[in-house]
Amino acid sequence: MVTQMTSEFDAYASDYRERIERIVGFSGRSHQFFVETKVNHLLETLTSLGAVPKQMRMLDLGCGTGETDSLLVPHVGELHGLDISAASIAIAGQRPENASVRYATYPGGQLPYENDTFDAVFAITVLHHVPRGDWTRFFQEMTRVIKPGGFVILYEHNPFNPLTRWVVSRCEFDREAVLLSARTAQGLYRTAGLRIEQVAHLLLFPWQGAWLRRVERALQNLPLGAQYTVIGRKPAVGHEPRTTSAPTVAEFSELLNAKSFDS
Ligand SMILES: C[S@@+](CC[C@H](N)C(=O)[O-])C[C@H]1O[C@@H](n2cnc3c(N)ncnc32)[C@H](O)[C@@H]1O
Repeated sequence: MVTQMTSEFDAYASDYRERIERIVGFSGRSHQFFVETKVNHLLETLTSLGAVPKQMRMLDLGCGTGETDSLLVPHVGELHGLDISAASIAIAGQRPENASVRYATYPGGQLPYENDTFDAVFAITVLHHVPRGDWTRFFQEMTRVIKPGGFVILYEHNPFNPLTRWVVSRCEFDREAVLLSARTAQGLYRTAGLRIEQVAHLLLFPWQGAWLRRVERALQNLPLGAQYTVIGRKPAVGHEPRTTSAPTVAEFSELLNAKSFDS
């Protein structure tokens, strides 16, 4: 059974960016820096895996106020945005840069799209807001709506990074957040029948620069960065989503023990 979602983000939609700016301000970087870093990473990773973003139909699942979409629109073929927060979606749709994005709301649970609709679905810092009991279903739904060969991409907070935990503990809308490690996320990918293509930790340094990016890439397998990404792919043929989940013992134990960092 899927828990009915509440739209707690409705209350934060009008000043979402300002609230985040206040929290990440200590790093000396703006919220825009973190959004840009992930957009660049997403486009570079897809390209490195042989995809052509300009030809892709993508879904930004949990798109919030559409900050990512504003940067992504010029680089992708078709972009859809979906969220449980109607107030956030209203703001996302009002941004002139997002005029071509097809926005929708839903109550959580089944995604309002046909099977095999998208070339890629990405969820950026969304899963830790989804009740833990719904994670498996969330992944099954993402897998259902991507085409065979399509991508499921997750960006999440790294619970092993002390600064990330500090930020989360001070963030009003992270009060109910349940952070999950990259290992737990990979278990969810496998349970959904997705093939994992890449796991990387990023945002180790809050600065831009080609050589820093090279250092980050060299260290991406270590759980050091503020966030991580997991990129999985739906097998091109003979896809049979596993309905009986079989996480490893370590993954199962972590799912049970995942900590909620209440402030
Ligand atoms: C921290 S915000 C991130 C917004 C956006 N992805 C970004 O990076 O700016 C989390 C978003 O996830 C949304 N959300 C939470 N549960 C969801 C669900 N089950 N399906 C879709 N969106 C969800 C919230 O409404 C909120 O807009």
